[in-house]
Amino acid sequence: MAENRIFNFNAGPAVLPLPVLEEIQASFLNFKGSGMSITEVSHRSVWFDDVINDAVARTKRLLGLDDKFHVLFLQGGASMQFAMVPMNFLPEGKSADYVNTGTWSTKAIKEAKILKKAHRVAATSEDRNFAYIPKNIPFDKDAVYVHLTSNNTIKGTQWAEFPDTGGVPIVADMSSDIMSRPLDVEKFGVIYAGAQKNIGPAGVCMVIVRDDMLKTIPDNLPSMLNYKTFTESNSMYNTPPCFSIYTIQLVMKWLEETVGGLAAMEKINQEKAGLLYDFMDSTDFYNATADKDSRSLMNVTFRLPSEDLEKLLIKEATAAGMGGLKGHRSVGGCRASIYNAMPVEGVQTLVDFMKAFEKKNG
Ligand SMILES: Cc1ncc(COP(=O)(O)O)c(C=O)c1O
Repeated sequence: MAENRIFNFNAGPAVLPLPVLEEIQASFLNFKGSGMSITEVSHRSVWFDDVINDAVARTKRLLGLDDKFHVLFLQGGASMQFAMVPMNFLPEGKSADYVNTGTWSTKAIKEAKILKKAHRVAATSEDRNFAYIPKNIPFDKDAVYVHLTSNNTIKGTQWAEFPDTGGVPIVADMSSDIMSRPLDVEKFGVIYAGAQKNIGPAGVCMVIVRDDMLKTIPDNLPSMLNYKTFTESNSMYNTPPCFSIYTIQLVMKWLEETVGGLAAMEKINQEKAGLLYDFMDSTDFYNATADKDSRSLMNVTFRLPSEDLEKLLIKEATAAGMGGLKGHRSVGGCRASIYNAMPVEGVQTLVDFMKAFEKKNG
């Protein structure tokens, strides 16, 4: 580990691969011989063209996206997508299905409601405080899309497999698990992800759109809220968030060239999550909050016997060089976010610390 760096378990903004940060540092003052940093070059320059085109090409290779998919970089975060999706893809006279698995799905549904768009909540896990992913969902076969949140950052649940929607395209908020595993992309009409968890810094949202989804976009949308504006301009209708896109490019390069692709990444993610869950399953002192078959490989949420012990664990872990273990403010408890860039060594260090903590306080 580089000097003075901690194991960062924050939920987002979150840990980035160290080689990526080092490359940013090394090339910061003079990017590719331009005599400028990446935050100073024009987005209309050959330097930035190379960055964005390479970020798109690597994203397509990693996910196995063919030419019918557009890879876009938008601002407004994933939260803007909650509104843009129904504005663009939910025409008058049609309805969409939503699956509610927690805070972020609830927010997506709220935007469809505000826009007075016809929609249905096809399934929800609210009855047990969103501790599980619903199964056997009766989807509407005439829905224009099925919206779901692939990984629930706050509740620590994740879709292990995506549901059979009978051919209705899935629109997925993958903010907290994009690029963590290979995908069967044919199921998806749209994938979006705020970058600041698994693929880059805050300030940009990656959006993957299947070309046929663009056909029904109404022509009365403001330009900045219309996906076609971005498909037609290589995401550069206006000034894009250049530094964030550049960092994504480097993270995609790390995934391809150092990790060896998404299947290799998934194996590492399974190993890391396995270390934590297996340990917690071996003791009554720590309790993972999600149902076993719905557990997230990215955000491991857990409780201790009391809130005082939770506070103490977070305090002592921080002192020992492990940051960001506090649960989301809406749910309390503890949460270890173990995104792609968290090394196995970081998770092992946490497990060793938790064992020692239990011995002392259990
Ligand atoms: C699953 C999920 N969706 C959406 C959001 C909101 O993202 P943003 O802050 O980019 O709008 C978050 C994160 O904080 C999230 O975890």
